[in-house]
Amino acid sequence: MKELIEIYLQKVRKLDIKSAEDLESFRSEFLSKKGKLNELFDKFKELPKEQKKEVGQVLNILKEEVYVKYHEYENKFIKKQVISEKLDLTCPSEPIQLGSRHPISIVRNQIISIFERIGFIVSEGPEIEDDWHVFSALNFPKEHPARDMQDTFFIRKNPDILLRTHTSSVQIRVMESQKPPIRIIMPGRVYRNEAISARAHCFFHQVEGLYIDKKVSFADLKQTLLYFAQEMFGSQTKIRLRPSYFPFTEPSAEMDISCNLCGGEGCGFCKYTGWVEILGCGMVDPNVLENCNISSKEYTGYAFGLGVERITNLKFRVNDIRLFSENDIRFLKQFTTVI
Ligand code: PHE
Repeated sequence: MKELIEIYLQKVRKLDIKSAEDLESFRSEFLSKKGKLNELFDKFKELPKEQKKEVGQVLNILKEEVYVKYHEYENKFIKKQVISEKLDLTCPSEPIQLGSRHPISIVRNQIISIFERIGFIVSEGPEIEDDWHVFSALNFPKEHPARDMQDTFFIRKNPDILLRTHTSSVQIRVMESQKPPIRIIMPGRVYRNEAISARAHCFFHQVEGLYIDKKVSFADLKQTLLYFAQEMFGSQTKIRLRPSYFPFTEPSAEMDISCNLCGGEGCGFCKYTGWVEILGCGMVDPNVLENCNISSKEYTGYAFGLGVERITNLKFRVNDIRLFSENDIRFLKQFTTVI
């Protein structure tokens, strides 16, 4: 075996490599999987112990020389070739793709900035919540049907740990930890156990507002919401409030705006009513204030909550809520020019 290695050594030393092709055949002869080096090392393993030292030494010399030779010519032929092919300094540079904000973020930021202008401060809370903050403190009695409308995903039962169904849980967290006056806006993601369709998803985004102080009235609520609607949809926008029910507000209402497509004349979009629903609101139920150790004799407040997807659909005429979470760049990049 030693003689064979020495023959190879001579061969490697004499070998004249003139081109990339010569180099490749050298590589495949010596360095490939089935090449001479691997073959020799396999045989080497089977040698009797007393021969290993002597043969090992020449084998290592061969290995070293093969690698040195290969790298020497690799620099000469292969790398050079790549460089001369690829480096064209006159090429224009690759365009840098400019990202864009997600439409939901654009609208959420607009909503926040409208309310910040009249003194609301952003508050946030956890998406994984307990029963108290999502339901019980908000005056949802156990087994009340209102809980069915906000069926959600439970992480644990008894005690219940669940994904929040609305950002009203943040109202409770803030009222438990701060004294009035409280004037906050609460953006965030919420979850509901809904079949996914063009109009409903198992998660969506809300922005809620809460104002607690002495002598806060329903008139304050109405005027604040009129200001919001006109800032968001234009100064010609009208609002109307319809009686509704939420366990945590009394009285409660649903707010519509005059259809921003037909201006209230009636069209297919507003189902010829001239109005489209945009949010729920009401005066904070005294029970909710008391649950958070705020005196309902001294303080009153209002709350409202709106779905960001709904407002985005109205503003940009997106008619399928699933588009917001499909991550399709063709859809998302249509919003690049919007601030
Ligand atoms: N939390 C309600 C919902 O998710 C919305 C709402 C908030 C209604 C505040 C009234 C007051 O449906």
